[in-house]
Amino acid sequence: MSFLNNLEWRHATKIFDTEKKVSDSDFEKIKEAIQMTPTSFGLEPFHVKIVTDQAVKDKIQPVSWDQPQVGSCSHLLVFCARTDWESRINDYFEMASGGKAEIKEKMNPYEQMMRGALKDRTEHQILDWARNQAYIAHGFALAACAELKIDSCPMEGFDNEAVNKILGLPNHMKSVVMMPIGYRTEDPHHGKVRYPESDLFS
Ligand SMILES: Cc1cc2nc3c(=O)[nH]c(=O)nc-3n(C[C@H](O)[C@H](O)[C@H](O)COP(=O)(O)O)c2cc1C
Repeated sequence: MSFLNNLEWRHATKIFDTEKKVSDSDFEKIKEAIQMTPTSFGLEPFHVKIVTDQAVKDKIQPVSWDQPQVGSCSHLLVFCARTDWESRINDYFEMASGGKAEIKEKMNPYEQMMRGALKDRTEHQILDWARNQAYIAHGFALAACAELKIDSCPMEGFDNEAVNKILGLPNHMKSVVMMPIGYRTEDPHHGKVRYPESDLFS
């Protein structure tokens, strides 16, 4: 199965070749994989900031434990959780009904079920819920990169507040996980370390 071979091939890349850029056509495929991510109620409560401007990457690297993959990558994807669930639901039913009032009416019980499931959650709980969805999208993007033989590094090692400020994120968006992508260079990689199947499954 080539998917498994590609997962074996990928590794958390620590430094990228600054001369090599991901093509627009490959990047479109990565975006499509992110868009196809299954999410809770289909609300896709995340947003991905795409950073290609070197000046912005250079601002983010020092607040990311100075990890060189940030400054050297082709594209830096910053996955943000979004907490504006009410307007997200409005938009969802507008799209799902094609703007037709009678279809919206028929979908009303589903809409009320969604609102009911989310309305009593604290802001913190909503953020946790949205963060989980952003991580699923992050996983899909990692897998898409592996399929395209594009290198990537999943990254939590950064100051979220500082990144929110650098990117000028609105209040309802919080950076949660990043993914610099590009092509590997002299990358210190010591092979895969994985717990045995007996540890992971029973
Ligand atoms: C959520 C998450 C956060 C991570 N954060 C970092 C990071 O900040 N810097 C880094 O170099 N690697 C980071 N990693 C990479 C892991 O260390 C790496 O995936 C793991 O050791 C397995 O190695 P492999 O991905 O090369 O197979 C992170 C991985 C995940 C999934």
